[in-house]
Amino acid sequence: MVELVGIGAGAALTLIVVALHYAKGTGWEAPEDISQEVLEQRAATVPETDFPEPYNRSIGGGGAAAIPAGEAGELGEGEEEEEDAGFDPDDIADDEVEYYEIEFEKEGETIEVANNETILDAGEEEGWDLPYACRQGQCISCSGQIQDGPAEEYIRHSQNDSLMDDDMDEGYCLTCVAYPTAEFSIETGESP
Ligand code: FES
Repeated sequence: MVELVGIGAGAALTLIVVALHYAKGTGWEAPEDISQEVLEQRAATVPETDFPEPYNRSIGGGGAAAIPAGEAGELGEGEEEEEDAGFDPDDIADDEVEYYEIEFEKEGETIEVANNETILDAGEEEGWDLPYACRQGQCISCSGQIQDGPAEEYIRHSQNDSLMDDDMDEGYCLTCVAYPTAEFSIETGESP
């Protein structure tokens, strides 16, 4: 008896599958792929930005092109270019070289440093054994602390990959890439 029920159910299922296989479709067709159109429309309506966005807007307008190294982007009204950006001491003409009295507190001396000479180089010329490692603004080994206020008011870096704005506000600078723009006192070998 159980076998007959099983055979009957199997046959019925087979018939249903065969019937479905030959049944006429509903005529439904997949809609056209409009994703490209949507992306282009979005890119055209999203406003331009001033910074490179390499991945989030891959089509059309919207994403600004990357700015090649060494070239400043166009600045909008009221925007200021970072003072350190692109500073090159070689751009200082001979007749524009100025000297500032820098007091090295730990060394107990005040020396004259030109605005196209780093604090580290000037100290080494005095024979002082000052700390450093990369000499390219990429570590923090040469860091010193200007005692008179925010570092931006006394030096400019030709490169700074290590110090945050807050650190510089507290007077820290990278002596290997720091060029004086005023007189100040510095404690070498101090880091944030
Ligand atoms: S020695 Fe590395 S940042 Fe100055």
